Amino acid sequence: MDKFIINGGNRLNGSVRISGSKNASLPVMAATILANGRHVLSNVPMLNDVRTMSTLLKGLNISISTDSGKLILDNGGGEFCEAPYELVRTMRASILVLGPLLARRGRAYVSLPGGCAIGARPVDLHIAALEKMGTQIVVENGYVDAKCPDGRLHGAEITFKTITVTGTENIMMAATLAEGTTTIYNAAQEPEVVDLARQLRAMGANITGEGTHTIKVEGVAQLAPAAYSIMPDRIEAGTLLCAVAGVGGEVDIVDAPVKELSPIIDALATMGVDIDVGGNRLVIKSSGQLKAKDITTMPHPGFPTDMQAQFMAILSVAEGTSVINETIFENRFMHVAEYKRMGADITISGQTAVVKGVKRLSGAPVMASDLRAGAGLVIAALVAECKSEVRRVYHIDRGYDALEQKLMALGADIRRTKS
Ligand code: UD1
Repeated sequence: MDKFIINGGNRLNGSVRISGSKNASLPVMAATILANGRHVLSNVPMLNDVRTMSTLLKGLNISISTDSGKLILDNGGGEFCEAPYELVRTMRASILVLGPLLARRGRAYVSLPGGCAIGARPVDLHIAALEKMGTQIVVENGYVDAKCPDGRLHGAEITFKTITVTGTENIMMAATLAEGTTTIYNAAQEPEVVDLARQLRAMGANITGEGTHTIKVEGVAQLAPAAYSIMPDRIEAGTLLCAVAGVGGEVDIVDAPVKELSPIIDALATMGVDIDVGGNRLVIKSSGQLKAKDITTMPHPGFPTDMQAQFMAILSVAEGTSVINETIFENRFMHVAEYKRMGADITISGQTAVVKGVKRLSGAPVMASDLRAGAGLVIAALVAECKSEVRRVYHIDRGYDALEQKLMALGADIRRTKS
């Protein structure tokens, strides 16, 4: 198992390019199930969740290759419909094949994702919505066994009682080939949902309202493969912004999804960080002296839960007391115990963490409990004095494209070794 050895304290300077978005790539890849033939995707990041989705799609008769940095997905059709437990247990987003399989192949046999480190994360809302569209679903032996008895899904009025990102994406994909109109109320407004809608439209789908809480999809008889370029990763950009904010320095962030980063940029600005925006570039300047900031995670356009751990790392050394409310996941404070081992002063009460800024963190051996907690620990280690070891880097590799190489190029003292 790999670990990172980090000697904290180095300022970060230079320029870094943001990779394609993980959370946009996964549904866009799953959407290739909807049309036989050759789909060409560019700006797909090379990270482990993308590799897992590729393996999953290969089992569904979609061959995967690369050509000049592009990912080619050639859908050979057929009746393959299984997403096995071995893959789903390593990546919950495997559930994204459920909607497209039902819409195109009329059957899906998808392992039920279990709970995960950050919460129970059920998929009941995906299932109820697909049932409303005419699917027969039995959950048995740990699998969602779903059939479309009429051969084609029916359009329906779907109201999500909780905003769900992958739920919205699954239903949007399923609805593209359904008979009639589907309206999704209380839909997720996340930029990755918008990216998926754009790809589906390029394939011939009839979708309106993406980026709002009401998405309308008029079903069409068939879709065709398309070339599509994935949006840049706002969470990778946010993670690098936090690293620079915490240690200080000046970094030019290239190919950044500037508009989609506004909750993150606004939060850093109130903490005393200087960020200049121009086109798709950001220049961040930080002295490393930060002010406290209260944060409440919310669905987009609110503050993203996927940036909570990284912000907590830098608020640990900000001047004053910050209150962080986590409203999306019930157990997303696993990193707190590790930050405290590095000298942070944090108290948790239910879904709220009170972070009293300390003068400095001290390096320590720590362990990542999930993807974004791992990124937060890397930032804490960069900020800390002396040496840290961040273990269980496999969590970080699931969702970041060469994070340590990007940080190293900016001047961080970070290297990967085997445990
Ligand atoms: C997606 C993102 C993840 C991000 C999360 C919230 C991907 C691949 N992952 O995850 O990085 O942290 O959005 O922004 O895009 N819920 C239910 N029943 C359901 C579905 C969801 O109760 O059927 C609950 C969840 O437990 C959670 C909340 O709804 O409390 C939001 O979850 P959801 O938006 O579905 O998260 P994901 O789509 O899994």
